[in-house]
Amino acid sequence: MAPWTDHKGRLVPLKLATFLALFGPAFWVLWQWSQDDLGPKPVTEALHQTGTWAVYLLLGSLAVTPLRAIVYWPRLIDIRRMVGVAACLYLIGHFALYIYDQKGDMLRVASEIVLRFYLTIGFIGLLGIVALGVTSTDGSVHRLGSMRWSKLHRTIYWLMLLAFIHAFLQSKIDVTNWVMLSGIFFAMMMWRFASRRGQDGYAVLVVIALLACLSTALIEALWYFGKTGVVASRVLAANFDSDLAWRPSQIVLLALLVCIPLRLIGQRRMADRRKKAPRGA
Ligand code: HEM
Repeated sequence: MAPWTDHKGRLVPLKLATFLALFGPAFWVLWQWSQDDLGPKPVTEALHQTGTWAVYLLLGSLAVTPLRAIVYWPRLIDIRRMVGVAACLYLIGHFALYIYDQKGDMLRVASEIVLRFYLTIGFIGLLGIVALGVTSTDGSVHRLGSMRWSKLHRTIYWLMLLAFIHAFLQSKIDVTNWVMLSGIFFAMMMWRFASRRGQDGYAVLVVIALLACLSTALIEALWYFGKTGVVASRVLAANFDSDLAWRPSQIVLLALLVCIPLRLIGQRRMADRRKKAPRGA
């Protein structure tokens, strides 16, 4: 079965579009490289871009479940596995680039992984994500049984934490992107927690948006305090300074408040679908 078809072998446009789009970042990195556009250290830059895309794709695969529920788009599930596997492949590429950067000296690669904490964390994350990628097939679900398979695949939440720690630790000073993405990740975890308890109304979305905004501001303040000793209250105060560029906490709040009109659309779609469904279906 091709990645862009359903179980009956019919073409699914959403799957095809996603499949093609997932090649985009890889082609973009290769294109920049071929044009000598990756700066003075092309391998390091390619490492950064592949690592960053891997995190975007991991978050994208985690966003499928909340998004399909909020906008009522059940078919979105069709692309979750594909996006997750693509994240895994970008990570393998990321690791391969690291090996290439170390001139293929595997002894050095191994000792760096053992000695540098951010690489140790990254390597554990990589092993875990590859294990999830390998067991993402229908055959594995069948072999493991759906309960054990789901339990295994829920480790992605912890692996995601390792991915963030690795990304934060390797950052030199500016962690804006990682602060913002960790706030979004935190919001997705809160949504899962709430929806498992049947709490998925508008009020819950507003509470999640506010809590995620607050935790994003706290993560940022604590990070800068730990890294540079800047007093946390000064970093927190920056969130209220209108002269500064948009702060991560503000972007997270805005991004999550967009879920409210999306949910409205979702409810309309659900009502339409129910009207169209034959009685008793
Ligand atoms: C879960 C697994 C991993 C994820 C999600 C990941 C992700 C990332 C991200 C997002 C960045 C930073 C991009 C940026 O800020 O521009 C990065 C940088 C980097 N990663 Fe990974 N990575 C993982 C595993 C690994 C492994 C296993 C290695 C090598 C053993 C590795 C080596 C590096 C290096 C060398 C850098 C750049 C550090 C620098 O510029 O000084 N990563 N990674």
